[in-house]
Amino acid sequence: MITGTGVTKTYKQRGDVLGGRTVQALRGVDFTVRKGGAVSFIGESGCGKTTLGRIIAGLETYDSGEIVINGVPMSALRPRRRQPYFRRIQLIHQDPYSALNPTRTIHQTLRAPLTLRARQTRRSDAWVDDRAEELLSLVGIDPGYVLGRYPHQLSGGMRQRVVIARALTVDPEMLVADESVSMIDVSMRLSVLALLKDLRERLGVSLVFITHDIATARYVGEDGELYVLYRGQVVERGGTEQVISAPEHPYTQSLLSAIPVLHGLEQPGPERVVPTEALDERHPDAGCLFARRCPFRTERCEAERPALRRGADASHERACFHAQRRSVIPVEAVA
Ligand SMILES: Nc1ncnc2c1ncn2[C@@H]1O[C@H](COP(=O)(O)OP(=O)(O)OP(=O)(O)O)[C@@H](O)[C@H]1O
Ligand SMILES: [Mg+2]
Repeated sequence: MITGTGVTKTYKQRGDVLGGRTVQALRGVDFTVRKGGAVSFIGESGCGKTTLGRIIAGLETYDSGEIVINGVPMSALRPRRRQPYFRRIQLIHQDPYSALNPTRTIHQTLRAPLTLRARQTRRSDAWVDDRAEELLSLVGIDPGYVLGRYPHQLSGGMRQRVVIARALTVDPEMLVADESVSMIDVSMRLSVLALLKDLRERLGVSLVFITHDIATARYVGEDGELYVLYRGQVVERGGTEQVISAPEHPYTQSLLSAIPVLHGLEQPGPERVVPTEALDERHPDAGCLFARRCPFRTERCEAERPALRRGADASHERACFHAQRRSVIPVEAVA
């Protein structure tokens, strides 16, 4: 289990003539991922998803806040002592071209981490090769076909599966999958999602799923929790089905109304929430971060930042002064 409390991250960006500016990538994010659970983080580009995923996997530092892994606060440990905790949280790179070393065969790629694992767990060399084959079968590819090949000799889907097999070499407790917008091959994307779901069921690994697409978040973690991020702040959080079927934050409502079809779960209603402006990181930081784009904003929203508060359901929270269930009409699919 991993929890984050008040996780904050600021980047200094080298700017134009005016010099650098700072971007608040995360503004005090709280989250919990339970053992075997599924948590999705969704939000539009630049809201801080990748930053959070990298922090969860121990690949990025944070400015303040606390990460607790299996009861151990990471701030209490020196960086080197944190490694064993973060090693069991594996980030899956969504670009299998850059994630795999082109000069190594798949056998060599899997051998290196498995040899280390064998030493740690006092296993024999024979175990290394057996395990490599076992992991490839687990991710649905024929070991005999891929082991001796180089990444460029494999299809994109197979490369992606090899990346997942490599993540499994350390017996992870958690997989963090950051779905980038650049993954355009739909059938490959769907088969990878199905595999992640399957691994969660079969191995009991927990899954953190990062996406801009609410429909994939629902597919991967229908029994899990959904966090909606907006400009580095969690604006809504709850059970995935709960948030999707009864969104209470206008931002979530606007995300949902951009989806062509959601299997008819939404009640078509009179209101369709459409942001009144495009996202602009230069929008004021005072008050509610969404206020400038929100059709329901009032003076209070511009002056005061709403905190995440529970609504009618204890397990469903949202950061909005005017939160209420609004029916969303999904935007028609463009033929
Ligand atoms: N290494 C960095 N240096 C400077 N700024 C950064 C860096 N990484 C991220 N940022 C900024 O932090 C903010 C959050 O970025 P992040 O990559 O986490 O967003 P994201 O939600 O993953 O977006 P996307 O959907 O496009 O992948 C953005 O404004 C981004 O420009
Ligand atoms: Mg990203």
